[in-house]
Amino acid sequence: MKLRSIEIALPDPAGAAAWMVDVWGLYPADVRGSTHYLRGTGTMPYLVAFEQSDEEYVRSTTFVCSGEELAAIKARVTDKGWAAKPVTSADPGEGAGLLVELPEGTILRFLAGSSEVEAIDGFAKASKRVSPVKLTHVVFNSADAELLGHAVEEVLGFRVSDRTKGMVFVRCNDSHHSTAFARAGFASLNHVAFEMDDLDAVMRGIGWMRDNGFAPAWGPGRHGPGDNVYAYYIAPFGPVIEYSTAVEKVPADYRTGKPDDWTWPEQRIDQWGISDKDFAGLRVAEERFRCRRDWEPAPL
Ligand SMILES: [Fe+2]
Repeated sequence: MKLRSIEIALPDPAGAAAWMVDVWGLYPADVRGSTHYLRGTGTMPYLVAFEQSDEEYVRSTTFVCSGEELAAIKARVTDKGWAAKPVTSADPGEGAGLLVELPEGTILRFLAGSSEVEAIDGFAKASKRVSPVKLTHVVFNSADAELLGHAVEEVLGFRVSDRTKGMVFVRCNDSHHSTAFARAGFASLNHVAFEMDDLDAVMRGIGWMRDNGFAPAWGPGRHGPGDNVYAYYIAPFGPVIEYSTAVEKVPADYRTGKPDDWTWPEQRIDQWGISDKDFAGLRVAEERFRCRRDWEPAPL
């Protein structure tokens, strides 16, 4: 199981796509109808889709998986009675599977049989100042993060890696987390994290953003759970996005941490403690994109 992409509806997909290419460092992958698809240097056919809509919302977050994994999820979703529907993807990579609505409204899509593409490397990669490789996590705000952590373990076969005062971190493979649920008191998109090649690439990304007039809303820093380096920004079209390095790999028997395992000294919220955090600005951006089910449930 791998996190692949996020599908976002917003009024100006071309404008958002241009900024994500020119400033953030993604590559155009395709345009189908009014939907712009953007990829990284890795093998996923796209990481972000921007579809035209008068309203801003998250249509889905897509995971790719095997036929066996899909069948198991399908059986448990049906058993649980969650809103879901079978889908055949018309996005790059294609594939088929299901859309499912979690408690609180987060929409996930699981696809089997979707294809990957050649990685971008060498000269083409050198022509960009910075380039994300792939998505590394998509985090959601939630009213009841504990409930969602248990629900995705039971129904989707995910595993909770760590619980902190603020988050429930969830993995779907050996990466410490591919998603997480923030204890926010409301449900929405918290942020989308893009994996960079290494720490140097994160720092060069921060420099390139600075050249373009953007300062981090939080970072650079190094998180506790997952041990990843981060720099968070508020994109001009709304959502919080992150440059990140590879998240820690964990064994299958990783001991799930509790909030008391992850405490910081006073006034410290990451391992380095070198950066301020724009709590108010991030909060506004984190409330802006809600997940919305724009389809009717159907038998799987
Ligand atoms: Fe993150």
